Amino acid sequence: MHAPNNPPEIDLRAEFTRFMMSYKFAIDEVMTKINILREEFNHVHDYNPIEHVNSRLKSPESILEKAQRKSLEIDTAVIRENIHDIAGIRITCSFLSDIYKIRDMLARQVDLTVITERDYVAAPKANGYTSLHLIVSIPVFMSDRVEQVPVEIQIRTIAMDFWASLEHKIYYKYNREVPVTLLDELKDAAATANRLDLKMQNLHTQVRQLNASADAGPAGNEGTVPFGDLERLIVPKALLDSLAEQSPRPAPTEASDA
Ligand code: GTP
Ligand code: MG
Repeated sequence: MHAPNNPPEIDLRAEFTRFMMSYKFAIDEVMTKINILREEFNHVHDYNPIEHVNSRLKSPESILEKAQRKSLEIDTAVIRENIHDIAGIRITCSFLSDIYKIRDMLARQVDLTVITERDYVAAPKANGYTSLHLIVSIPVFMSDRVEQVPVEIQIRTIAMDFWASLEHKIYYKYNREVPVTLLDELKDAAATANRLDLKMQNLHTQVRQLNASADAGPAGNEGTVPFGDLERLIVPKALLDSLAEQSPRPAPTEASDA
């Protein structure tokens, strides 16, 4: 919209700022969802599947560079439609199985739509890169409109993240022309990282089975509930019995009344 006295450049700058803001808000929305999942998962499954989460907003220079590389018309609607990694979130998790658990927990949410999924875990890239990539779309509610904003979410294990960050450094250090011997070693390292992930997954499964059988009677600090540790809440049987007595019971049916 053109305010009568503003030079067009000022209007365009304001429009572009609003465009960038929508991506920042989309990151905020998805980060809140991830933090809720992290806490709830910890509660239900008794461990924390999410090691860390990073987010980044692509800079206007990088957006322009990518738009030019893809020969796009420089227009916010065209850019929104064609560049899906302006808002980026990376979730690093503990175990292979967590990758798909986190994907499913996000995909089930009604206000989040998975637009594309690229599974480089099931089918690693030729250089050895593995991760699960989702492009999701999320509504961002602003004062005068609702925007559907795409967000790229990368989900990977610690081992995959370790590999990818080193590979990224090497790639740029050699200005994208990495010597073949190094490429081979990187591929080998990716295979090692994958073996580690499989081993840790296996150990994790065994430990969980052990825990399940040892869970009969927890002993702990009586009298206090560790703050932020509600999953260890011990509720005495007498308390549950009293609650059951107090809570209104459904009216008995004639048949059961007899
Ligand atoms: P971009 O144009 O870079 O967004 O690629 P794309 O649209 O083909 O998507 P792709 O799923 O291949 O990659 C998206 C992002 O995943 C990249 O920006 C990186 O963050 C990450 N990525 C993909 N491939 C590699 C890789 O080989 N090494 C590393 N370190 N990261 C990668
Ligand atoms: Mg990218």
